[in-house]
Amino acid sequence: MGLLRKIYVEDIAMKIACFSVHEFERKYLENWAKTLGLEIDLYKIQLGDETIEIAKGYEVISCWASDDLGAKNLHSLNESGLKMISLRSAGFSHLDVETARKLNLVVARVPSYSPEAIAEHAFGLLMCLNRHYPKAFQRVKDFNFTLEGLEGVTLHGKTVGVIGIGLIGEAFARIMAGVGCKLLFHDVQKREDLANELGAQYVELKELLESSDVVSLHCPLNDKTKYLLNQETLDLMKDGSFLLNTGRGGLIETQALIQNLKKDKIRGVGLDVYEYEEGVFFKDHSSLGISDESLLRLMSFPKVLITSHQAFFTEEALENIAKISLENIATYIKRDPLIVNNTLY
Ligand code: NAI
Repeated sequence: MGLLRKIYVEDIAMKIACFSVHEFERKYLENWAKTLGLEIDLYKIQLGDETIEIAKGYEVISCWASDDLGAKNLHSLNESGLKMISLRSAGFSHLDVETARKLNLVVARVPSYSPEAIAEHAFGLLMCLNRHYPKAFQRVKDFNFTLEGLEGVTLHGKTVGVIGIGLIGEAFARIMAGVGCKLLFHDVQKREDLANELGAQYVELKELLESSDVVSLHCPLNDKTKYLLNQETLDLMKDGSFLLNTGRGGLIETQALIQNLKKDKIRGVGLDVYEYEEGVFFKDHSSLGISDESLLRLMSFPKVLITSHQAFFTEEALENIAKISLENIATYIKRDPLIVNNTLY
């Protein structure tokens, strides 16, 4: 710790602002800013067209996945002196990478903060769907101790298809291997050592969908993976299988999923992310309700369980997000952008 302070506490006046700061992040950001000798302004507000003025004049900004870092905002901030963006996320689909690169902005992210946290949440969703825990808890609270309608399947021996064998996909595969499941992998890159260790087999997407009792999505959202699960590919899924998405909402075409659910083929769908979650998730709509018809329709299926993008949400992950994102800034402030870790390009 002493060494860190010595390196970072070379206090260079640089204006730093963190946007979309949630109450749950505040103590971690404040603690790490203090440790690293950074002075930061914390804003609850989300960066967007109407709030961009507040960010002007800052040389470094720290952003959450809901902040709008599109071309227009990047140009406008660049003109007012922005030099670096530190993302408090692994994903960067909210940032126009090409524009940031052209403007020579340094962009760093937190590539990994607790892959196991997300994998554990995916497993939790699966257990809730399979053994009907939410319904079971409610029933017992109502002094109804019957079991009708609560039966699940024994997961041991079932086939689990994992799409995207990166950090999170690996952590999920390890959990399911521990449960005693057979594993099918699908990825654009192969990790034969891991597959051999876990007894998994790499297959094409079609075979994975046709053969898996559980399908879990852990690949990034990009042009190639958008609507990876659409009408056609959802129809390939085995009758009575489970679908889990803790990746990104856009991996599944929501309308196709709704049509598929009406056919009553999938046994359960667990979603921690949703195609149109922006503006809905992370906010309290309990007094006015929501107007998103697709989300309402999804929520109306008893076999669909939705959580509000909380898979990452553990103490360890919050600590790591604050630490790594502020360390990225501290390194940059040493005026050596070339040694900033975790940069995008
Ligand atoms: P990673 O980069 O370690 O792994 C992603 C894997 O997906 C790589 O092996 C990559 O080759 C593979 N992939 C890329 N394109 C593919 C394609 N077309 N088909 C199949 N596989 C493909 O990423 P990590 O850390 O495992 O995260 C995965 C995703 O999880 C992130 O991109 C993010 O969208 C999501 N995530 C969700 C969180 C949540 O709270 N729900 C939190 C953090 C990440």
